[in-house]
Amino acid sequence: FKRISPACLARAESVSRELQEMMKRFIAGAAPAEALPVLSAIRDRGMAFSVDLLGEAVVSEAEADAHGRRYLDLMDDLGRVQADWKSLGDAGSELDWGFAAKVNFSIKPSSLYSQMNARAFDHSISRAKERLRPLLRKAMKMGAHLCFDVEHYDLKNLSLGLYRSLMEEPEFRGYPHSGTVLQAYLRESETDLRELVSWAKKRRHRMTIRLVKGAYWDAEGVHAAQRNWPVPFFTDKRDTDANFERLARLLLENGERVQLACASHNVRSIAWVMEAAKELKVPPEKVEVQVLYGMAEPLQKALVKAEVPVRVYVPLGEMLPGMAYLVRRLLEMTSWESFLWRRFGEGVPEAEQLRNPGSKHRRKRPAEEAPGDGERRPFQNEPQRDWSLEKHRSGFADALRK
Ligand code: FAD
Ligand code: 2OP
Repeated sequence: FKRISPACLARAESVSRELQEMMKRFIAGAAPAEALPVLSAIRDRGMAFSVDLLGEAVVSEAEADAHGRRYLDLMDDLGRVQADWKSLGDAGSELDWGFAAKVNFSIKPSSLYSQMNARAFDHSISRAKERLRPLLRKAMKMGAHLCFDVEHYDLKNLSLGLYRSLMEEPEFRGYPHSGTVLQAYLRESETDLRELVSWAKKRRHRMTIRLVKGAYWDAEGVHAAQRNWPVPFFTDKRDTDANFERLARLLLENGERVQLACASHNVRSIAWVMEAAKELKVPPEKVEVQVLYGMAEPLQKALVKAEVPVRVYVPLGEMLPGMAYLVRRLLEMTSWESFLWRRFGEGVPEAEQLRNPGSKHRRKRPAEEAPGDGERRPFQNEPQRDWSLEKHRSGFADALRK
């Protein structure tokens, strides 16, 4: 520190202060103790919540243990107060809108085991399950919902496998308040959804699927380019939007087993889901719209006014573990492709904001370069195997056996 000039230190302090201010906009509080007033206020405004304790990508087992304990403590706190909360909607039930648990948690698989790695697929699932079992047991006891977030592509198959493997255990079988996430920007998301639906049907399992577009687009591109792998996502935003609508319809058509939670701030995507629900005769009060804390507040208000069930995803935690979350939100808000930027930043005409992304007559854009499709270099490394793919894991195991 002696070598750092006072002017430089002052600048660092001011950057840190600015960051703290920015964090306050997207992160509801640092300590779980700060959660209660925030969550109660959200419910007072007619919305439900899902709490996410920030702490993804843990790097040690001690850190993962501490993270699990923080969830258990928060469950105790919320378990004590939930009876005082009047349920939302007027279904005359203890559940919000007649179907949803009042207390809802979101958890990131990378926060459960420090060596989570697709190369040790079964081992990673088994270690993560050790940390998840006590959480799910407690959630069941208090009737709370647990959602397994899906993160970057490398962990996607692991996360879906983890969810299924845990819910197949006899003590958790049949518990209706759990779910996971599907990312519409992934080309294989429709295959994943069909597999999940047929798994749920076979096991007579009921689950919630939070449909999102995907928060790791930029990072996935860099990751794929480094490895000479094809990008797993769509490279035209309109394809992601159209796929979101296709998947939403599939979910609504299978409403008996999968409950759709539409997580988006895009008015076109949300309106499309509401219209599709109407067409398929799914009561609108049975489809949740989920939004992120501190984002698209005018939209939140409009949805509540229209009596749509709204759930706010509420991250809680310190600045450092929250940094990746903050960066994702900033990237989302400043991307010229994002609905929020087109709506509030660029002022794109309304008809253009709401245009059908799957329209056959869509205007051609100058060729967009996907990260990873970029320069053709004279030398290309032979790509390594992607161990998150089942065909590579089983092929390798077969080769070893032979
Ligand atoms: P839009 O502006 O309509 O869409 C932006 C999205 O489009 C980008 O995030 C990206 O997915 C996609 N996109 C951008 N550019 C391109 C391009 N050139 N080609 C193709 N696609 C492109 N994300 C997760 O990954 N996992 C989660 O568990 C998760 N949970 C969430 C929970 C809630 C309640 C909400 C609201 C969002 C969650 N997200 C999650 C974030 C989500 O994936 C989106 O990043 C975010 O909501 C922006 O999408 P949008 O529909 O609101 O906005
Ligand atoms: C994220 O952490 C909200 O799960 C989403 O970016």
